[in-house]
Amino acid sequence: AAASRLYHKNVVDHYERPRNVGSFDKNDPNVGTGLVGAPACGDVMKLQIKVDDEGNIVDSCFKTFGCGSAIASSSVATEWVKGKSLEEVTTIKNSDIAKHLSLPPVKLHCSMLAEDAIKAAVKDIKAKRAAQA
Ligand code: FES
Ligand code: FES
Repeated sequence: AAASRLYHKNVVDHYERPRNVGSFDKNDPNVGTGLVGAPACGDVMKLQIKVDDEGNIVDSCFKTFGCGSAIASSSVATEWVKGKSLEEVTTIKNSDIAKHLSLPPVKLHCSMLAEDAIKAAVKDIKAKRAAQA
């Protein structure tokens, strides 16, 4: 039920029209950046979050140098993190993304990249805020 509002009509759409492709200034104090690589294939994903003072994610974008499944996974990830708190997004699992995109088993590591990128972005913004405090 809670996840249903996150559902778009056409999952395939993430392959054809990835959402939120782009970059934020990584030096912006309200931006967290996660940069991760997949050892299995060498693909790289950058996912960024913009966080308000209450610790809610107000915007997100990504750049992925990788396969179509990694790009689609990042697209879903940026959609799912928006509007969530830094605590909530750490519950986003790669298996949920894979299910959402109907990824085959050989492509599971592509969605893993998205989960790792979210966690890395959260870690980055938390470290930034801790340094400011
Ligand atoms: Fe876009 Fe589900 S189809 S997040
Ligand atoms: Fe490696 Fe998709 S084949 S991220």
